[in-house]
Amino acid sequence: MEKTQKIWMNGELVDWDKANVHILTHSLHYGSAAFEGIRMYDTKKGSAMFQLDRHIDRLLYSAESLQMKVPYNKDQLREAILETIKINKVKACYVRPIIYYGYGELRVGPGGCPVETSIAVWPWGAYLPGDSIKVKTSDLIRIHPKSSVTDAKITGHYVNSMLAGLQATSKGYGEALLLDYEGNIAEGPGENFFIVQGNKIITPPLGTILAGITRESVIELARDLGYKVEERAIKLEEAYEADECFFTGTAAEVTPIKSIDDKPIKNEIGPVTKHLKEEFVKIVNAENERYFKWLTFVK
Ligand SMILES: Cc1ncc(COP(=O)(O)O)c(C=O)c1O
Repeated sequence: MEKTQKIWMNGELVDWDKANVHILTHSLHYGSAAFEGIRMYDTKKGSAMFQLDRHIDRLLYSAESLQMKVPYNKDQLREAILETIKINKVKACYVRPIIYYGYGELRVGPGGCPVETSIAVWPWGAYLPGDSIKVKTSDLIRIHPKSSVTDAKITGHYVNSMLAGLQATSKGYGEALLLDYEGNIAEGPGENFFIVQGNKIITPPLGTILAGITRESVIELARDLGYKVEERAIKLEEAYEADECFFTGTAAEVTPIKSIDDKPIKNEIGPVTKHLKEEFVKIVNAENERYFKWLTFVK
């Protein structure tokens, strides 16, 4: 990880190496933090953050799902993110805001623990290895929708993601794929999943997945480009037979999938995936005015 200079902690800019928390921080023990991952791109029109407002909305939604009383509103969080970017003089970066229950009591219930906020930024390149990846279905299922608030981005959920990811990467695969409790494809550990059949694009519906902001954006983009998009259950067998498969995510962007469980997908990097990826890259690089609405330019 490439360090930057300062991390924003509860309104103060703290040196990267001094941005510490107490060992009895509630969220460290119980996974009780809400967080986001946001990308900023170095474009010809200046640095631009992708879907900043939607990320802040999701952060506040996730915090609310943990019953946190966040001492900052949306505008204050946006300002804090922009301040952290500016002070660190980064042109392109990944932004990690986190709102967590801090040090107070150590009961499971977070009463008595302060709600703390931190924002770090650092340069981060490609998340998944190579131009297209080999994926392995996990034998761990995605968190049951009645076990947690699955559409909130909460740190505790990432034990499920991490274990599935480790299973796959330790066997030489690029990423895992998780099924839901009904045996339908849910998502990757940190990515949403899509298949392509001819000119039709299909992705699992909301319910057991994180409502990915890249997913939403790619759905809108695909429809604008004239593709038919369906949100419906996908069985593994249907994915094996698909023309193309790909992942989306802030970190993963649009990543083609070349095989699932060692079964090669018909097109390793198919024409529809390629098209969407190219258009997505243009959008985040501020080369398509129609989608400037998704960008926040940082002066
Ligand atoms: C479990 C999970 N699914 C999907 C995604 C993709 O979401 P987004 O496009 O908002 O980054 C992420 C990343 O945040 C994730 O962690």
